[in-house]
Amino acid sequence: MQRSTYSFPQDFLWGAATAAHQVEGNNVSSDWWEREHRDDTDLAEPSGDALDSYNRYEDDIDLIVKGGLGAYRFSLEWARIEPEEGFFSKAQLLHYRRMIEVCLERDVVPVVTLNHMTLPRWFAHRGGWRSEDSADLFGRYVARVLPILDGVTWVCTINEPNMVALTRGGSQGSNMAASQLPSPDPVISESLIRAHDRAREILAEVDAIRSGWTIACQDFQAAPGCTRQMEEYRYPREDIFTEAAKGDDFVGVQAYLRTIIGPEGPLPVVDGAERTLTGWEYYPQSLEHAVRHTWEVTGHVPIVVTENGIATGDDSRRIDYTYDALAGLHTAMDDGIDVQGYLHWSLLDNYEWGSFRPTFGLASCDPDTFKRVPKPSMKWLGRVAQTGVLSHP
Ligand code: BGC
Repeated sequence: MQRSTYSFPQDFLWGAATAAHQVEGNNVSSDWWEREHRDDTDLAEPSGDALDSYNRYEDDIDLIVKGGLGAYRFSLEWARIEPEEGFFSKAQLLHYRRMIEVCLERDVVPVVTLNHMTLPRWFAHRGGWRSEDSADLFGRYVARVLPILDGVTWVCTINEPNMVALTRGGSQGSNMAASQLPSPDPVISESLIRAHDRAREILAEVDAIRSGWTIACQDFQAAPGCTRQMEEYRYPREDIFTEAAKGDDFVGVQAYLRTIIGPEGPLPVVDGAERTLTGWEYYPQSLEHAVRHTWEVTGHVPIVVTENGIATGDDSRRIDYTYDALAGLHTAMDDGIDVQGYLHWSLLDNYEWGSFRPTFGLASCDPDTFKRVPKPSMKWLGRVAQTGVLSHP
């Protein structure tokens, strides 16, 4: 297939993303660790040492630099910073401060997520996002974190609040499509919106910070004659959270797949469609569609693509997918949509919420030595980032 070449703006932010629980290892005070180690766990394998990024974060930042990317999205782990209710660890805050400093020293733009799926055990045990004071407790944590954010511009408050609401409280990961989950718990959705607003108020104390949240955009599509059903299905699962981003400094779009809604709800992936290692349909157009929809629903809040990628063992397919996703993104930008950056998911083959099998990384990691090895897709994306020119190899 003949593929065109596209030019991106000079100041476009190019980078890759991870999340604490998926790479750090030994996140023992989190609800996820507890779930992984229950006798009746539903997960295929525990996170264990993961990629030991807690100790090897400099190697990860080096990968970004040597790979030619300019930004690193990572998350702070609330369960480490506040391992017991009301006890804030200075040592852990300094740990994350050091990570931010290493990024700044190496000219890597840090994009910091304050909460990416996992919760401190104590918070989960007192009801998690269902408890009435959950937004205040989150706000207290954000206030403690604020001083270490000196020099950081981009802050994501809560990752994929819609997946948290769909999984009814956040003790589950997101390695699933919305279509496989029951409808969201409205109490949780409201708490998350309150927590986001509270966090943004606190972050607004620092002029330089631009804050927003990152939404799992599922590219809901209507089967013929099913527009109403699709819109009703989509609202509590996505649009309620996108509407809550109105007035934010930016909104994070995270897109991987599409979901087609028929008269009775989601339709299965069509027979014969190519599927990725997560079982999702190979559908790179979802990024362009998600960006267009988010732009409309927020009434034109600037967008950063905070996640997009593919779980595959075939790295050339990762390049194809990313090329097609970026070509679609460029078309949306040509139509005037303000997109300020693209952060690929993921920097590394990491712990995919229950299993290490679905490999999303631009780099692999040896499970015995923790040595990171960049893949050809990293080199390719780095060249796109360096030149601002998207072309297919
Ligand atoms: C999440 C990541 C996850 C990725 C792929 C996103 O929904 O934020 O934590 O690994 O999707 O499943």
